[in-house]
Amino acid sequence: MPEPLQVSTPVVSDPKASTPLIEITGATVCRGDNRVFDDFSLTLSQHESVAILGPNGAGKTTLLKLLMREIYPLWREYPVVRILGKERNDIWELRRQLGIISADLQEIYSPEALGRQVVFSGFFSSVGIWGHHRLTQDQHEQVQTVLARLDIEDLAGRPFGELSSGQQRRLLLGRALVNAPAHLILDEPTSGLDLAATFQYLQTMRQLIRSGHTLVLVTHHIHEIPPEVTRVVMLNQGCVWADGPKSEMLSEARLSTLYGVKVRLVESAGWYQALPV
Ligand SMILES: Nc1ncnc2c1ncn2[C@@H]1O[C@H](COP(=O)(O)OP(=O)(O)OP(=O)(O)O)[C@@H](O)[C@H]1O
Ligand SMILES: [Mg+2]
Repeated sequence: MPEPLQVSTPVVSDPKASTPLIEITGATVCRGDNRVFDDFSLTLSQHESVAILGPNGAGKTTLLKLLMREIYPLWREYPVVRILGKERNDIWELRRQLGIISADLQEIYSPEALGRQVVFSGFFSSVGIWGHHRLTQDQHEQVQTVLARLDIEDLAGRPFGELSSGQQRRLLLGRALVNAPAHLILDEPTSGLDLAATFQYLQTMRQLIRSGHTLVLVTHHIHEIPPEVTRVVMLNQGCVWADGPKSEMLSEARLSTLYGVKVRLVESAGWYQALPV
């Protein structure tokens, strides 16, 4: 395992412990011709790291897009989605409060942006750096600190499009961390990473949780759920199919039913792995 990572203390979005990160009540969400959610309700706390599991098409990415205000539910006469207690959020402020890392973001990111510009772009929630973007001395220093902390200073001058998937992912993690967000939103963060890069990434995630960040982790890979994640929400066909403490949710019977295939579950030191029977 790599050396422990020193991470900045997150900016706590709301000092009042009771305000949920997201509160969804009776949401109907359509994407194209598909009604993905129908009367969907779920509350995620600001103070609990959660893993969201579910088969392909269950609605996991749609849920993250609701959280990032990239898509909206159909209008109701009451607030359907509140994020950090607000019915309406300043999108740019929100995207700085919630650090997101997804394969989507990696795909659309400008290939010509240099590594340090990728990290810079976290300040503007953009997918590249443009002429009107100006950085303060403080921000320059923060970028340097993040590059050093993630041990990716060697990537600072290299174009994003010429990096391996794991190197790109680490720059995107830097982009998410540069604002010291309290919450990190991860959509299948280790897909495409080799074993060493996966372990390093998972170690970083654990340290982030321990230093006060909250993770909302969408994954198909049971083995990438850090031991510090305490709650598991299982989605199926646009519904919350099961929701509870990780120790109860991660059972062979539940996973077998959720994915429709017999699963053997192995646990070691708080990590789980699903195996075929
Ligand atoms: N842009 C889109 N237009 C129309 N339908 C969409 C769109 N994006 C997603 N969907 C549909 O919404 C449903 C939920 O998709 P979503 O991407 O949220 O699933 P997911 O749980 O993230 O799946 P995966 O594990 O494959 O990433 C699926 O039925 C999908 O076909
Ligand atoms: Mg998805």
